[in-house]
Amino acid sequence: MMNSFTPIVHDDNIRAMRRFVVVGNRAKASPRFKLDSLGASGGRMDVLVRCVRAAMLIADGVRRDTLLDLLLLGGENAPLTLRLDGRTARFLRPDERRNALTIQQALAARHPGADEEIVAPGITAMPMDLPALLAGLQEPLFVLARDGVDLRRQPFAPRSSTFIIGDDRGLMPEQMNLLRSMGAIAVSLGPTELHTEDAITLVHNELDRRWIE
Ligand SMILES: C[S@@+](CC[C@H](N)C(=O)[O-])C[C@H]1O[C@@H](n2cnc3c(N)ncnc32)[C@H](O)[C@@H]1O
Repeated sequence: MMNSFTPIVHDDNIRAMRRFVVVGNRAKASPRFKLDSLGASGGRMDVLVRCVRAAMLIADGVRRDTLLDLLLLGGENAPLTLRLDGRTARFLRPDERRNALTIQQALAARHPGADEEIVAPGITAMPMDLPALLAGLQEPLFVLARDGVDLRRQPFAPRSSTFIIGDDRGLMPEQMNLLRSMGAIAVSLGPTELHTEDAITLVHNELDRRWIE
């Protein structure tokens, strides 16, 4: 459904998109969480909100070549995927509270029972769980896991890629099994267990360096 937030894509030069899918196994799919208590009231919504800054922002603006799918699997209205699109996103800030408010307002703008719906500039809500979301993707899948292939040794074609990342508790065994069955390649960022948003930063950094080099 299109509405007044229908995107206008200005940058026709982007050929390869980076997509990050963050699986929030408890993150609330409704706006009923408190900005002062994102973790406890939002099912660790704080983790997902920090991913907004890490995935979408650079020091002087928005990463236009990036999509961030926040998979919200907690509470009423779940499952729901919020897709942030760097080509059209607005109102994203380095400030965690401001981004939490943007996510909350996007969730509040959704019409109950609606199918795919643009709920804010550059943010689309889709009633999709992980299998449905992955089924619609064409690009190669990578799952971030400590026991995977070293990211630095993993070849990447200069084309769109999707990276799937767990929340504070990581991906569930059935989610890992699904990803394996779909041929997802596990890539590791080293032996240290990192926060979700830091894992995104390291992937961006590796890809930034490769394309510059
Ligand atoms: C806080 S960690 C999850 C920790 C959880 N106890 C586990 O064992 O998966 C969040 C996510 O970041 C990614 N991650 C963290 N450290 C990583 C590493 N060293 N290599 C690859 N991915 C990592 C994984 O996708 C993980 O699910």
